[in-house]
Amino acid sequence: MAKIKKKVALIFGITGQDGSYLAELLLKKNYIIHGVKRRSSSANTERIDHLFDSVNFNNKNIFIHYGDISDGTSTLNIINKIKPDEIYNLAAQSHVRVSFDVPEYTADITALGALRILESIRILKLKKTKYYQASSSEMYGLVKKKKSLDEITPFHPRSIYGVSKVFAYHTAVHYREAYGIFASNGILFNHESPRRGPTFVTKKIVQGLVRIKVGLQKKLTLGNLYAVRDWGHAKDYAVSMWKILQYKKPDDWVIATNKENTVKKFIDISARKLSMKIKWVGKGINERGLDIKTGKTIIDLDKKYLRPTEVEFLKGNFSKARRYLKWKPSISTDDLINDMIRFEMNKYNS
Ligand code: NAP
Ligand code: GDD
Repeated sequence: MAKIKKKVALIFGITGQDGSYLAELLLKKNYIIHGVKRRSSSANTERIDHLFDSVNFNNKNIFIHYGDISDGTSTLNIINKIKPDEIYNLAAQSHVRVSFDVPEYTADITALGALRILESIRILKLKKTKYYQASSSEMYGLVKKKKSLDEITPFHPRSIYGVSKVFAYHTAVHYREAYGIFASNGILFNHESPRRGPTFVTKKIVQGLVRIKVGLQKKLTLGNLYAVRDWGHAKDYAVSMWKILQYKKPDDWVIATNKENTVKKFIDISARKLSMKIKWVGKGINERGLDIKTGKTIIDLDKKYLRPTEVEFLKGNFSKARRYLKWKPSISTDDLINDMIRFEMNKYNS
């Protein structure tokens, strides 16, 4: 019987939240995976170490390469060596607030990084290689009407992170139109998980409240409590990335839950699940959350967590993905929070 050739995927950003879930998914789908890791002073592979240890996976199917998407030569060399069937570009300076502090660096990685990968595909004439661009709901930025945003809603980014993602989005569309490259954008709304980086708001809230609960921390300091986000689970969103590249043609897709919550609501739900009840007092930057049991302030605000320009409202309409990709979220916001709390509590329940 003829042997079926395994698909080969190359993941830029494999050490990140999404990269780790995508690698897990593709291993289960019998892919050979190559991941690019940038050099850092610590190992920085904690999200993917289990893929090498686990008895469930054949670790002969996963390979890590040193590289950096700020380095066009290394990017081209890696792509040339592997000649993957699918490239997932998840690499980015992905923190919106940080992009105000390091705008030039953010543009280099988040915008030009995408161009470097697409140029490599073009120069190497890899006609069969499909490209996935991790585009973002942050591109919508200043929305005119607080309604569900879709693939035709105009972009008005409010940070250099958002501006860079708009560049990368249009670069993918351009390489598709100019050179016939199979380049698709997943416009993903916020997605979280136990593996979320510690300075993103959901992880900061859950980690902070759990630490307050077990007595390791006195209070949690945040920024804008009234921003609205559409929070899904990263595990579901990894499935959408794969489906986007399996679709018959390259296209652009909104991936979201179409549910909205404020940061404050996320805090209240998380606190309730931890049997903590919060009473909110004060206004503006002086607003505080008191633990009803003790009367002590457990949440306060600091201007340093506010952004010079904020994205106040994000909610996504994923009808196109539901219809054509047969994708829909399977994990509710409630279960997302349960998953994140369970993970944090397990650190202290030994
Ligand atoms: P993340 O956890 O911050 O992961 C980013 C990944 O990019 C990490 O593996 C990081 O490596 C890597 N990276 C950063 N700079 C690099 C460079 N110069 N060269 C090579 N790799 C580099 O982000 P995420 O939440 O998984 O998101 C994945 C992608 O989706 C990002 O592009 C993000 O902007 C986009 N996105 C995310 C969301 C969301 O809500 N999570 C929504 C829409 C779009 P280190 O581990 O070494 O830092
Ligand atoms: N990070 C953070 N820290 N955000 C806070 C805080 C805080 O202390 N307090 C309030 N917020 C508010 C932010 O102002 C923002 O309105 C909201 O919480 C969410 O912030 P983040 O979790 O940092 O996510 P983001 O929406 O800015 O960006 C994430 O989602 C994008 C997709 O819309 C990132 O994952 C981006 O990479 C992604 O593209």
